[in-house]
Amino acid sequence: MILNNIFVQSVIDIAQLAGGFIHAHYGKVDENQIHTKDLNSLVSYVDTNSETIIIERLRELLPESSFLAEESSAGLENTEYVWIIDPLDGTTNFLHQIPIFAVSIALQYRGEIILGVVYEVNQKECFHAVKGQGAFLNGSPISVKNLELQDGLIATGFPYYDFSKTEAYLKVLENLMLHTRGVRRLGAAAVDLAYVACGRYNAFFEYSLAPWDVAAGALIVREAGGQVSDFLGEENWLLGKTIVAGSEKGHAGVLKLVKEYFKA
Ligand code: IPD
Ligand code: CA
Ligand code: CA
Repeated sequence: MILNNIFVQSVIDIAQLAGGFIHAHYGKVDENQIHTKDLNSLVSYVDTNSETIIIERLRELLPESSFLAEESSAGLENTEYVWIIDPLDGTTNFLHQIPIFAVSIALQYRGEIILGVVYEVNQKECFHAVKGQGAFLNGSPISVKNLELQDGLIATGFPYYDFSKTEAYLKVLENLMLHTRGVRRLGAAAVDLAYVACGRYNAFFEYSLAPWDVAAGALIVREAGGQVSDFLGEENWLLGKTIVAGSEKGHAGVLKLVKEYFKA
């Protein structure tokens, strides 16, 4: 079996290596080295070099694989194994020196995510999960905390380029402000999911996300005993751009709201 301990540790090592590179460049990127991909979507050489570091090593580790990665068309081919990579999740934080950002690496086998690693660079927290084997933070098992909505925190990402559903989004937000301990917007979806997995957040929701934002984190949430769906409560969260993840109660509470306000 491919997912033995040595293989998993190698992927963790690669995430941490890229994290070390990112850390070394924190606060050192000049304004003229920052480019805009789309509205409010920034990128610098740190994102692209991190991706190169990751892809080169993963290719050595598993030559018969292809890549769905944010910053390059490194090659999504018709292979059984596909890596889904966000080389720097939280680029805007990174570039504005807000110390919350991560490397996210997931491995799909025949369309199913079987491995997820999220390495949060500044706290040096490495979250990982292997399908069917539980979820871990720096090697120790983690699990979601199944809280009533009013007893927990909710994470989200504010819309920043697709404003077509802002009204529905703000309704959900208002509701959560009124009925939870608070709402947080850290600015790194992979970290939000990892924090759900270890019980810091009761749930997370966001729309307009890409597969590399959620692939690894969603497996980690599920392996930590949590639930993941799209805004309809269905399975299309990887490619469908909407996600709700949480403990059983957290997920149910947020899903009820997004279903109500985001209905067509
Ligand atoms: C972004 C972050 C952010 C989320 C955005 C993502 P990036 O990823 O995860 O929290 O709100 O939707 O695109 O661009 O920093 O990799
Ligand atoms: Ca991202
Ligand atoms: Ca990114």
